[in-house]
Amino acid sequence: MLLKIPVFLFATSFNVVAASLNSQLHRRDLAATIAAERTIALQGALDNIGPNGAKAPGAYAGVVVASPSTDDPNYYYTWIRDSALTFKMLVDELLTGNTSIKPLIEDYVKSQAIIQTVSNPSGSLSSGRGLGEPKFYVNETRFNGPWGRPQRDGPALRAITLIAYTRWLLKNDGTAEAKADIWPVIRNDLNYVAQFWNQTGFDLWEEVSGSSFFTLAVQHRALVEGAAIAKQMGFSCAGCDSQSPNILCFLQSFWNGKHIVANINTAVQRTGIDSNTILGSIATFDPDAYCMDATFQPCSHRALANLKVYVDSFRDIYDINAGIPASSAVATGRYAEDIYFNGNPWYLCTLAVAEQLYGAIQQWLARHNLFITEVDLAFWQSIYPQAKIGQYNSGTSSFDNLTSAAMRFADGFVEIVDKYVPVSGSLSEQYSRENGTALSAHDLTWSYASYVTMAAARRAATTVLASAREPIQVPSWGERSANSVPSVCVASSVAGNYTPATGAGTLAGAGGCTVTVLFRVNATTYYGENIYLTGNTTDLGNWSPAEAVPGNAANYTSERPLWYFEIDLPASTAISYKYLRQESNGSWLYESQNRTYAVPVCGTQAETGSAIVEDAWVGPTGTPSKG
Ligand SMILES: *[C@@H]1O[C@H](CO)[C@@H](O)[C@H](O)[C@H]1NC(C)=O
Ligand SMILES: *[C@@H]1O[C@H](CO)[C@@H](O)[C@H](O)[C@H]1NC(C)=O
Ligand SMILES: *[C@@H]1O[C@H](CO)[C@@H](O)[C@H](O)[C@H]1NC(C)=O
Ligand SMILES: *[C@@H]1O[C@H](CO)[C@@H](O)[C@H](O)[C@H]1NC(C)=O
Ligand SMILES: *[C@@H]1O[C@H](CO)[C@@H](O)[C@H](O)[C@H]1NC(C)=O
Ligand SMILES: *[C@@H]1O[C@H](CO)[C@@H](O)[C@H](O)[C@H]1NC(C)=O
Ligand SMILES: *[C@@H]1O[C@H](CO)[C@@H](O)[C@H](O)[C@H]1NC(C)=O
Ligand SMILES: *[C@@H]1O[C@H](CO)[C@@H](O)[C@H](O)[C@H]1NC(C)=O
Ligand SMILES: *[C@@H]1O[C@H](CO)[C@@H](O)[C@H](O)[C@H]1NC(C)=O
Ligand SMILES: *[C@@H]1O[C@H](CO)[C@@H](O)[C@H](O)[C@H]1NC(C)=O
Repeated sequence: MLLKIPVFLFATSFNVVAASLNSQLHRRDLAATIAAERTIALQGALDNIGPNGAKAPGAYAGVVVASPSTDDPNYYYTWIRDSALTFKMLVDELLTGNTSIKPLIEDYVKSQAIIQTVSNPSGSLSSGRGLGEPKFYVNETRFNGPWGRPQRDGPALRAITLIAYTRWLLKNDGTAEAKADIWPVIRNDLNYVAQFWNQTGFDLWEEVSGSSFFTLAVQHRALVEGAAIAKQMGFSCAGCDSQSPNILCFLQSFWNGKHIVANINTAVQRTGIDSNTILGSIATFDPDAYCMDATFQPCSHRALANLKVYVDSFRDIYDINAGIPASSAVATGRYAEDIYFNGNPWYLCTLAVAEQLYGAIQQWLARHNLFITEVDLAFWQSIYPQAKIGQYNSGTSSFDNLTSAAMRFADGFVEIVDKYVPVSGSLSEQYSRENGTALSAHDLTWSYASYVTMAAARRAATTVLASAREPIQVPSWGERSANSVPSVCVASSVAGNYTPATGAGTLAGAGGCTVTVLFRVNATTYYGENIYLTGNTTDLGNWSPAEAVPGNAANYTSERPLWYFEIDLPASTAISYKYLRQESNGSWLYESQNRTYAVPVCGTQAETGSAIVEDAWVGPTGTPSKG
């Protein structure tokens, strides 16, 4: 393989390079390896994007396929989260001057405008609820299978990506496009965040229903940036200004004094030590920020203490980490309790640790100082035993030694990944805890995107920066103006208006007005039985049990055997429907009658009582499951 020689050598003016020649040569090798793998990773991501991506047959224009893997696991879908993170990487590449990416971003904008209008099991655009749907088929149609839904990070991440693109457009003669095409997509997403941030949903790993640190952190950022970009274009986002402080306030609850707890408001019992938190810190990195604990900036005491706790949680559980000293990098995964594919390290999680540290280094260099407190002392001492509580200013050898220890530690995570990347350079989702071989979905787009963003962060951490830091560094999102925590946290919500972003090219007639109908049915069930609703429209699964809507038994009692369904249905239409009962062995029992319902007019709210249906099961009862 022909490797390009790296251009980013260390900046001697920062003296961050350890003195020994060996170490410098080693760094040069690492830079060369990173440069080569970054090229492969960028191409790997592009290959998974429709319509022309080499590994994305059938994907519509601008649609990101999560992985070309169609079996064990089947990831041939598009996720809102993965797509937004991938296109954030591509927008950042555009900002560095690679304008050849622009047409692809335009495709992405259109694909997202269309997907916003697709009614799905989470709901519709009209109610906003449909924006929380995590994944779709690569032809922009709904996926009806059971899934952890809704996931409320998607709209926030998409807004962040499109805001970054909008800023570029505003500086590059694209004001009309930004206002007419992009803003209506962003506005829907911001409205979603302002309305739903205070409700539970599934986390980024699609496993835990609750409040997720990652989700709240990116929601806060989205509303802060959203308010600013709206103002800049002469629009307004009332929900942004009123809700962002409330989110920041709630975000403080995730800090337990020792580490960030990934999920709260959940019944799932785990330590909470999870790469969710590292990914949250890098997704909200602001190069202009001080090392603020409130926003968990990469260089903050909390985020560094958390990084150590997170990394250490993997030292003793993966065979491939055996014998690595406590001062060095190890392979890391999602969380120690993980059992998916037997629980392995993930490339993107290991790379995220490096990226957090590269972000932190950018922040210390830009602020010209670094503070150690009792909160992050253990982190510092693990990588630099002489570290003590105090302030260290740039220009001193203590500052140089500390930042250089952080750089060495960060590079160690990249070296671990490089060690376990196959010779082809392709990045799958996981690498074996036993021997480091690639596992699970191959060519995972998010893995590729994470390599490119890691490389960009390292470049920014190791390049002499003049006063104009862009485009080497990612732009600020305004953290400095949005890091003061209100003294009282408020549970709140601002109801939003959601309209199809027609300027970006939504399909005619899509995204029309719906009414959220509450179906309540008394249906006594045995343990292991479930009630579904189906009917004669796509929203109801067209009489197919496999596509039927699953009921919620949260309020089921022996006095009131209630199953309920909240379904967004087109206003002023009529439906035929019935309830289904699935036995614990998988077989289906149907109600003996078909029912009809006239959906009320646009604007009807279930709270007024006019969109509530009260039914009682009519048909065969099931059989108790054995055992
Ligand atoms: C610029 O983007 C194109 C895709 O539009 C990609 O093929 C190319 O490798 C990128 N160039 C660099 C230097 O990253
Ligand atoms: C979209 O893709 C799904 C899954 O491959 C397929 O079942 C469906 O028929 C496709 N729909 C359209 C409109 O192409
Ligand atoms: C809603 O916000 C309040 C105030 O911060 C908080 O106590 C509560 O846990 C939040 N609930 C959810 C589901 O976000
Ligand atoms: C920084 O590291 C160098 C080289 O190891 C060492 O000589 C120097 O004493 C250190 N500076 C401080 C303040 O510890
Ligand atoms: C590596 O470990 C995986 C399980 O983690 C196993 O399936 C595979 O066979 C092992 N490969 C080698 C070369 O030992
Ligand atoms: C379920 O119970 C909760 C708490 O009592 C109540 O607020 C909610 O309205 C109920 N939902 C339905 C669909 O009955
Ligand atoms: C579904 O059934 C209702 C009630 O019978 C009927 O009015 C409506 O046209 C049907 N919808 C479709 C899409 O067939
Ligand atoms: C499931 O159980 C029911 C009742 O016990 C029985 O009638 C049915 O045949 C079973 N179905 C399957 C697929 O085993
Ligand atoms: C009644 O329901 C069945 C499914 O159980 C469906 O196949 C049939 O088309 C429905 N008939 C009418 C008239 O809606
Ligand atoms: C459902 O059960 C409750 C409690 O027994 C009862 O008050 C209600 O009338 C029932 N609803 C229907 C539609 O039968």
